[in-house]
Amino acid sequence: MVKTIEWVNGTVMMLDQSRLPLEVSYIPCATYGKVAEGIQKLWIRGAPAIGIATAMGIALGAREITAGSYEDFMKGLDKVFDTLLATRPTAVNIKWAVDRVKGFLDRNRETGVARLKEMLVEESQRILDEDIRTNRAIGEWGAQFIKDGDTVLTHCNAGSLATGGYGTATAPMLVSREQGKKFSVIADETRPVLQGARLTAWELMQEGIPVTLITDNTAGALMRRGEINLAIVGTDRTVLNGDVANKIGTYTVAVLCREHGIPFYVAAPFSSIDFTIPTGDLIPIEERPAEEVTNVFGACRIAPEGVKVRNLAFDVTPARYVTAIITEKGAFRPDDIRRLSEPDADIDALRIRA
Ligand code: MRU
Repeated sequence: MVKTIEWVNGTVMMLDQSRLPLEVSYIPCATYGKVAEGIQKLWIRGAPAIGIATAMGIALGAREITAGSYEDFMKGLDKVFDTLLATRPTAVNIKWAVDRVKGFLDRNRETGVARLKEMLVEESQRILDEDIRTNRAIGEWGAQFIKDGDTVLTHCNAGSLATGGYGTATAPMLVSREQGKKFSVIADETRPVLQGARLTAWELMQEGIPVTLITDNTAGALMRRGEINLAIVGTDRTVLNGDVANKIGTYTVAVLCREHGIPFYVAAPFSSIDFTIPTGDLIPIEERPAEEVTNVFGACRIAPEGVKVRNLAFDVTPARYVTAIITEKGAFRPDDIRRLSEPDADIDALRIRA
C-alpha cells in the first residue's frame, strides 16, 4: 500500500495524487502554507487524509511561531487554523482535526511551548495511526454486506489514498478478500477529476482485487441488467439526520440504487460525522475551478472557450436513500446517527447486521 502522507524529519511528504497514476511522486511540504496548498490543489484529498494533513500542517505551523507564552503561541496558531480551515469547506475532517488539536493543546497548556511543538507532531502521528485502525474496523463491520460472487459499485476514491491507509469504502472489500470471498468491483470514473479512474482503479489493481472501470453514466444501465449487487461509497460529512455529503454524482448513484432495489452503503469514520449539523441542506458545498470541467487532466481542453460552468465538488444524498452507515463501531441506520451522538446511546442495540 503506497503511503499517502508521512512526517519525515520535520517535513510532510505528500503523495501528489493529482499526478497519479502517471507519476508516483512526493511533494515535500516544509510549511503549513504548502500543506494548505496541497489540500486545495488535491495533491492530497479524501476526507480522512486531509484531516491528517491538517494535523501535520498545524505541527509545521507551530514550528514557525516564535512566541514564548502559551497565550501568544495560541494567537499565532489562529492564523494556521484559519488557513487550513479555508482550504476545503465540505469535508468535516479538517474542522475535526483543528478541534481535536485545540483540545489537545488546552489539556497540555502547562507543558511549555517548546515541548508542545514536539507533542503536536506526536499527536498528528496518533491521528494517522488511529485512522488506519479505524479503517480496519470499518472493514470488519462492513465485510458482512459483501457476499461471494457480488459486484460492488463504488464512486470516487474512498480507498487507502483517501485515508491514512486501508480506506473506508474499500476496507470492507479488503477484509472480504482476506475472508476468501470472490467478488469484483466497478469503479465509476468520477468526473471531473477522475478519482475513480486514476485512483480507485489503480489502487484496487495493486491490491489484486478485480476492478472494472466505467464512465459515470454507465452505472444505471448496468444496474438495469442486474450486474451490480451493492454500492459502497465514502463520505465527506455525514450529519445528524443521516444525510451524507460525498463526491458529486453520489446522489445519482443512490437514487439509481433505490430504483433498482440495490443496497447503498456509506462507509463513515466517526471523524466524518458532524454531530453539530441537523440536516444535509446545511452542509457547505465546495465549488471548484471551471478548468476542472473544461479541461481533462489540466492540459487538454474539451469545451469551448468562454462556456459557463458549474463545478460542484460534492452533493448531498438524503438519508432515505442510505441503507446503512458503516462506521468503526458498527453499521447503523442513517436515522440512528442522532442517537449515536447521545452519551447514553446503546450502541449494541443500534447496530444492524446483514
Ligand atoms: O474531492 P475529493 O477527492 O477529496 O473527494 C473525496 C470523496 O468524495 C471521498 O469519497 C470522501 O472524501 C471519503 S474518503 C474516505
